[in-house]
Amino acid sequence: MHILVGVTGCIAAYKACEVVREFQRAGHEVSVVMTAAAQQFVGLATFQALTQGCAKTSLFGDAEPIPHIALAEEADAFVIAPATANVCAKLAHGIADDLLTSTALACTCPVFVAPAMNVHMYENAATQANLDALRSRGVRVITPDAGYLACGDVGPGKLPEPSVIARTVLDALLSAGALAGKRVLVTSGPTVEPIDAVRFISNRSSGKMGAAIVRAALDAGAHVTVVSGPVSVAYDARAEVVWVETAAEMLSAAEDAFADADAAICAAAVADMRPERAEARKLKKGRDDAALASIPLVENPDILSALGHGKRVGQVVVGFAAETEDVLSNAQEKLIRKQADLIVANDVSEGAVFGADADEASFVTPSGGERLGLLPKTEVAARLVERLAEMMHLSA
Ligand code: CTP
Repeated sequence: MHILVGVTGCIAAYKACEVVREFQRAGHEVSVVMTAAAQQFVGLATFQALTQGCAKTSLFGDAEPIPHIALAEEADAFVIAPATANVCAKLAHGIADDLLTSTALACTCPVFVAPAMNVHMYENAATQANLDALRSRGVRVITPDAGYLACGDVGPGKLPEPSVIARTVLDALLSAGALAGKRVLVTSGPTVEPIDAVRFISNRSSGKMGAAIVRAALDAGAHVTVVSGPVSVAYDARAEVVWVETAAEMLSAAEDAFADADAAICAAAVADMRPERAEARKLKKGRDDAALASIPLVENPDILSALGHGKRVGQVVVGFAAETEDVLSNAQEKLIRKQADLIVANDVSEGAVFGADADEASFVTPSGGERLGLLPKTEVAARLVERLAEMMHLSA
């Protein structure tokens, strides 16, 4: 592969030399593009020597008349490491005022950004919003390490080791396309079941797990439809989002999307029950005391079970289970009862998982259970997508 490494003006710029070497050691061709500020830290000559002359800094004065387009076209991946807060902001807003940012805008290949900066700059809401915007457009943001920073502060902002950056990029590139051409449906978030015009029954599902699955499936090349209840997390802009409120609406939208999908991942926290009748008007104290004191509930349809029992040969259905005891055997029972092919079982005995960033998860299939241990939701999602790809190729 041809990997373009972008170097920006950060104290960690010297580590970019090793990033270049790591890719070269793995057998890849490397070119480099540097910003003017990067040259305050490491000279162009260093990268020229490392890349046999394939390091550039300027939009003008090059033998190549349109260097940003030429660089973008020859790259199979663009890896900006380190990426300053300023360059992340420019990329998020489409600003193209030098060779590096113009090339980034012209790239159609996978783009990776490894932010490195002071902890307060990294944690600043503006930087986080810029990184979220980049993620939502499919840019892979490599999480910085936490530790003692060059400025003397301690916290996240350190450029990860060059070997870690290279492995993250190469793993992602090699697993990219595992779901190419596949259509994946994800249900996500809570459902909202109205009691009257202003009141409802719902739950605290944040949609974080669903959002992580959506991104992992998109990164693996799938076309993703997410059927979601109201959430504040943002879904990746590449996904098609169908917003719903009630379980009945979620079932209908999920069945529609599943008709031409290859797989369904049911990550939604569907309300088990709903009020038997939803009053169109607001129930009033004094006048409607009896109706407010006792709200008859009826069971909601089970979406995972409907998709599991209705699936065609070759379609794969994945569900979730939150368990406090006998995690694997309870999940196995759920797998059979709902006719799912895989259950991601979360051990919630230590507390709730809603809103958390990590899960104690296991994969449960008809042939047994596999504990993943405590992992970030993004990592659970990545492993789930890998597993799904294996299952889909087996069932194809
Ligand atoms: N699910 C669904 N529709 C429902 C209820 C659940 O699609 N009406 C799906 C969820 O999206 C999830 C799985 O089923 O994939 C969870 O099953 P559930 O039976 O609700 O299990 P737990 O949440 O683990 O709770 P319990 O053990 O109390 O049943």
